Amino acid sequence: MSFGFSISRRRCPEDDGRPGALLSNYVENLGSSMMRRKTALALKAARAEAELASRAKSEFIANMSHELRTPLNAIIGFSEMLKDAPRMDDTQRAQYAGYIHEAAQHLLHLINTILDTSKIQAGKLALELRPVPLDDIIEASLRLVAPRAKERNIALEWKEEALPVIQADPLRLRQVFINILSNAVKFTPEGGRVRVHVNAQDDADMVLVSISDTGIGMTEEEVEIAMRPFGRVDNAISRNAEGTGLGLPLAEALVRLHGGRLEIESKPDKGTTVRLYLPRQAPAAGKPAQRAA
Ligand SMILES: Nc1ncnc2c1ncn2[C@@H]1O[C@H](COP(=O)(O)OP(=O)(O)OP(=O)(O)O)[C@@H](O)[C@H]1O
Ligand SMILES: [Mg+2]
Repeated sequence: MSFGFSISRRRCPEDDGRPGALLSNYVENLGSSMMRRKTALALKAARAEAELASRAKSEFIANMSHELRTPLNAIIGFSEMLKDAPRMDDTQRAQYAGYIHEAAQHLLHLINTILDTSKIQAGKLALELRPVPLDDIIEASLRLVAPRAKERNIALEWKEEALPVIQADPLRLRQVFINILSNAVKFTPEGGRVRVHVNAQDDADMVLVSISDTGIGMTEEEVEIAMRPFGRVDNAISRNAEGTGLGLPLAEALVRLHGGRLEIESKPDKGTTVRLYLPRQAPAAGKPAQRAA
């Protein structure tokens, strides 16, 4: 039977009549629209990252200027007093000269730390690797913090023992230990204890050095702050203690440059343990290990 008209299949532009053409065109279009969306998302993420980096940079510069200005003002102020007071007695003159010297030393240390931090961030800090007896480095660092610990009646516990020789940059490794140990002493109230313990199993690639204290400790959020450059946790001790908030992130970056990692376990009012995992063989060019997620 004929109805006098024929049903023609209406074709959409993508349909060229080949079997399956509609589906394959649909998939193709879906694919390219997903790609476009992915690119747009990646662009957005890159923009956010750049914004964050620029904000971090501005914050870094603001902090740095503040930290540099304080000792510089002391140097200018005391040198002006020396210059403008012709009849100053010798004791006072020596005292002012001492303040200037102290502020200049502080400034030099600060500038070196800032330079190290930015060199590491730019991937430009090269390690000078050589075989290093670990016990020598730990003992030298302990000797440096011992006077401060004694002053505050803090016991330094360390079992003398022959430790393995590891491949490291001795100056940089000492800097790591001094930073961590001086934090442990600084953030532990009088009468407390700081202990260094080493776990070096013959068959393990890494040597573990733990530095634990019985100090004020930190919450998880505070540990995160502490690991950032210029990050200082606001508490009764840090408010009165000297510091810029660069020692810990620098130590972490130096350990990573050695191919190791630094972990912190801390509890408020109980204390802090900093664990340093150091490879026996550091990567040849001082290539940093991936940061733990
Ligand atoms: N062992 C610790 N116990 C408690 N808080 C700590 C400890 N170590 C670090 N912190 C916290 O982390 C912050 C950052 O430490 P970091 O060593 O970077 O800076 P800092 O000691 O304040 O100054 P500096 O640049 O002179 O080292 C400290 O200000 C402190 O609040
Ligand atoms: Mg410190």
